[in-house]
Amino acid sequence: MASAQSGKDSGVRLLLIGPPGSGKGTQAKHLTEKFRVPHVSTGDMLREQIRKGTALGEEAAEYIKDGNLVPDELILNMVKVRLTQSDTTGGYVLDGFPRSAAQAEALDGFLEKRKEGIKAAVLLILDDETIVSRLCNRRVCPECGRVYHLINHPPKTEDRCDEYHCRATLVQRPDDNEEAIRNRLRIYHDQTKPVIAFYRDKGVLREIDASREILRVQIDIERALEGDL
Ligand code: AP5
Repeated sequence: MASAQSGKDSGVRLLLIGPPGSGKGTQAKHLTEKFRVPHVSTGDMLREQIRKGTALGEEAAEYIKDGNLVPDELILNMVKVRLTQSDTTGGYVLDGFPRSAAQAEALDGFLEKRKEGIKAAVLLILDDETIVSRLCNRRVCPECGRVYHLINHPPKTEDRCDEYHCRATLVQRPDDNEEAIRNRLRIYHDQTKPVIAFYRDKGVLREIDASREILRVQIDIERALEGDL
């Protein structure tokens, strides 16, 4: 695998791992702006397919509403197509992928064929009870995808997106109810935790305390990435 040290691979290929609600989407937005690379969120891609009413969207919706993982095969096909699009040549920030050992192995094989590698896998660490509280208070913009929190990061005008071109009415995600959140957490502990060991073994895991305020977490991530890019 090509590495940052080889001097040949300049792509900013980062990934964010963490339990639901740990701030992956929030921090991905900052990282993509800082490094000018696209945000590749499998959750956002699936929700887009659901909005469009595609066959993939219909199938995925059945898994997502209860907080279960969408089958690896569907996810891998979708991600491989996305990662061969021209805007990803300089890199990307992966958010919510890989989240099973099989997905991590498949991504690794895909990148190896391209003589590329992941520069850093940022792990956001947060306890389960804080997660439940964060997600019950999350609101999202259905138009531009911007994420808010009713207490920690509220919109300037109640229930409205701040983006001037958007101003849509904010909504709650259907899987942000306590039952689905607790199922997502169970799945994270059972199926996604092996992904952490996978990247730790590769020496690219960067562990971050995600309980601190948004700006603090952002600074901690930037510091952790010094030397990786
Ligand atoms: P996905 O959309 O990826 O959901 P998730 O992993 O559960 O993560 P979230 O989007 O809920 O949280 P986040 O970590 O991005 O936190 P956020 O920044 O919003 O996936 C949804 C579903 O799709 C899955 O359940 C699965 O069914 C399917 N799926 C997706 N990818 C898949 C894959 N690879 N394989 C199989 N299935 C897949 O922040 C949360 C809230 O906290 C916000 O309100 C935010 O404002 C606030 N906040 C953020 N940071 C802070 C902070 N530091 N302090 C205080 N508040 C904060």
